[in-house]
Amino acid sequence: MESDGFSYIGVLRPDTVSNITRITDNLPIDHFQHVHEVDQNIRKLINDPKLLYLVRRYLNAEPVMLECTLVVTGGSCNNDASGLQNSFHFDYAGWQSVNLFVYLTDVDESSACHKVILGSHRRKTLKDLFYPTISDADARKRFGDKVQSVTGAAGTLFLENTEAFHKRQFSPERRVMLNVLFASHRSILSNGRLDPRNVQHRNSIYARYI
Ligand SMILES: [Fe+2]
Repeated sequence: MESDGFSYIGVLRPDTVSNITRITDNLPIDHFQHVHEVDQNIRKLINDPKLLYLVRRYLNAEPVMLECTLVVTGGSCNNDASGLQNSFHFDYAGWQSVNLFVYLTDVDESSACHKVILGSHRRKTLKDLFYPTISDADARKRFGDKVQSVTGAAGTLFLENTEAFHKRQFSPERRVMLNVLFASHRSILSNGRLDPRNVQHRNSIYARYI
């Protein structure tokens, strides 16, 4: 994790996966913020003592959860349009930060797999700070074989330094992923991440399934 900025950390138990996917399998293509507020299984997952131990060790601080977003992509909504998430970019949450990602559909090399450039969190140029997106060609030129495809069955968990270059491979295939952002501290960059309209929309969608 220190050198790569990425690590698989395990797979959820089958009963936990089915408890979560019973709901997430029905969700429309969209993103839903702070889903731990409406799904007790996700709430339990992000408060798991073993997970928090790992995050605490990596951040060397008591983790502060800034985001807990369920992201559903694929299907006809974005069949023919790639977006920012389909190009290599990095995110910034202030201070030290790490993302927990959980696949909630099976993801393989040919589907909308997450890709990360190993070690790239430590190899930024000044230009990257102003233009935090790079092309595949630039990624190959700068980082060679460090591009890793992240694959796994529903329930696969991995941690990734928020500042590592990453992207979602473009694919019309449906993919559901939980994205939980932990930071070592709150800062000005922690504010304004939760959109009240998204929360309202989330509540109306989840009301059909909870
Ligand atoms: Fe991102």
